[in-house]
Formats: sequence, structure tokens, C-alpha cells
Amino acid sequence: MITEVSEWLRGASQIAVLTGAGISAESGVPVFRGHSGLWRQFRAEDLATPDAFARQPALVWEWYLWRRALIARATPNEGHRVLARLQQHKGATVTLLSQNVDGLHRRAGSPSVIELHGNLWRVRCADDCGLVVHDVESDPPRTNLRCRCGAWLRPDVVWFGEPLDAGTLQRATTAVEQADVVLVVGTSAVVYPVAALPEIARRRRARIVEVNIDETPLTPRVDAHLRGPAASILPQLEEQL
Ligand code: OAD
Repeated sequence: MITEVSEWLRGASQIAVLTGAGISAESGVPVFRGHSGLWRQFRAEDLATPDAFARQPALVWEWYLWRRALIARATPNEGHRVLARLQQHKGATVTLLSQNVDGLHRRAGSPSVIELHGNLWRVRCADDCGLVVHDVESDPPRTNLRCRCGAWLRPDVVWFGEPLDAGTLQRATTAVEQADVVLVVGTSAVVYPVAALPEIARRRRARIVEVNIDETPLTPRVDAHLRGPAASILPQLEEQL
């Protein structure tokens, strides 16, 4: 199957890659669902919704600061690096779409990433006064989580119940509509609207290839399911390109 998929990739002029938490799993960043997922240990309603932040901003920040510390210690893996190289390959236009907020694609050298759920290393004013602080990695505002306007700062991520940035979602939709092949890597494919992107591509007759250690609701509708860890499947694919 890998040989067939690599032929599809070689013949494609537009490729879209959609990643989820599974691509960072081998970097030691916990996924959300499944037996060792974060949502087994924590309740999303308490930590990743606008209501939770309105009720207990300090608790929500504590959780995000813990995740930031964990991600700061992690390094990109071979899966991230293969995708970065694929993007720089001259043969096709490769658009990388990620639900991950960890920033590991950029650290692996990806020249551009459409971050559908935001980025943990960016903070903004919770009252939308306009302040956005980029790359807080080197200077996490542990001691000052307040905006210059007096409101709370918040992580610039998408919480449950919040819409995705319309322009970002539009760019992602266009990328999958134009793609000849869509590679879906390490996502449970259950969180909408992102979970609809492979379906949009399928209606346009793109080939859908899933890389996952498990089956997902998307699996019955893909053209190829490459079962296994992304950090070993993606290098195997690259070898054949
Ligand atoms: P999930 O935790 O829901 O799914 C991770 C997927 O990765 C599962 O299908 C696993 O089988 C697979 N997986 C685990 N390890 C893998 C590996 N080494 N190689 C390949 N696949 C592997 O994560 P997402 O689908 O990214 O949103 O979750 C989507 C959204 O739900 C997240 O962006 C986050 C979460 O709640 C918000 O917080 C809004």
C-alpha cells in the first residue's frame, strides 16, 4: 500500500496534509482521546471552554502553563521533519494544516502551517482589546497574566464552543478542495469543523490517505489506511518518493 500511496503523491500537483495530536505523540506530547489521552484525566468543560475561563481563569492558565512546559521540553520527531521536507520539495505544492497548538511543525522546519486551533505560544487579550503577543516561549507570562488594558490574557487557541478563525478555515477548505491527495495524520477525526475537511476533499475526488495507529470514523471512507506510528510510516513513504 505504501508504494501505491507514494505513486499518488508523486503524481500530485497539490497535496494537503492534515495533522492531529498523534503526530506529536512520539515527541512525548499527550494526545486528547484514547486510554492515555488528556480528556481521560481532565474534563474539557473545566479547562478548554470560554465558560471555564470566565469562571476560573487561573485554573485554566495553570493547565496551559503545564502543557507549555511539557511541550517546551519536547522536540519534533521524524514525522514532523518528513512533512517539513515534503513542503520544501519542488514537485508539488504541499499545504500543511494542523489542529495542534504545540508549534512542533514550525520547530521541525515547516515553512508554513495553517494552525486551525491556534497556537499555545501566542497569547491575546481575553477582552479583545487588540493585544496579541507572539512567541511567548522564551518569556512565559507566569507572573503577569494580565493584559495592558487590565483584562486577563488568554492562550490564543480555539476552545470548545468557539468558532475557528473564518479566514483560516477558508484557507484550509480551499487547500483540500484543490488537493489531489489529502494525507490525514494522527487525528481521531471527530472534532468539527476540521473533521469535515477530508470529506470535502473526497467529494472533489481527491485521494484520502490516513496514517494512524488505530481506526477512526474516517477509516471506512479513505482510499488508503496506513496503520502505524506517524514517525515510522512517514519516513517509509518519503523513502519511496
Ligand atoms: P485525538 O487525541 O482526538 O486523536 C489522536 C489520534 O492520533 C488518534 O486517532 C490516535 O489513534 C492517533 N495516534 C496516536 N499516536 C499516534 C502515532 N504515534 N502515530 C499516528 N497516530 C497516532 O487528537 P486530535 O484528533 O488532534 O481541540 O484532536 C482534535 C482536537 O480535539 C484537538 O485539536 C483538541 C482536542 O480536544 C481543542 O482543544 C479545541
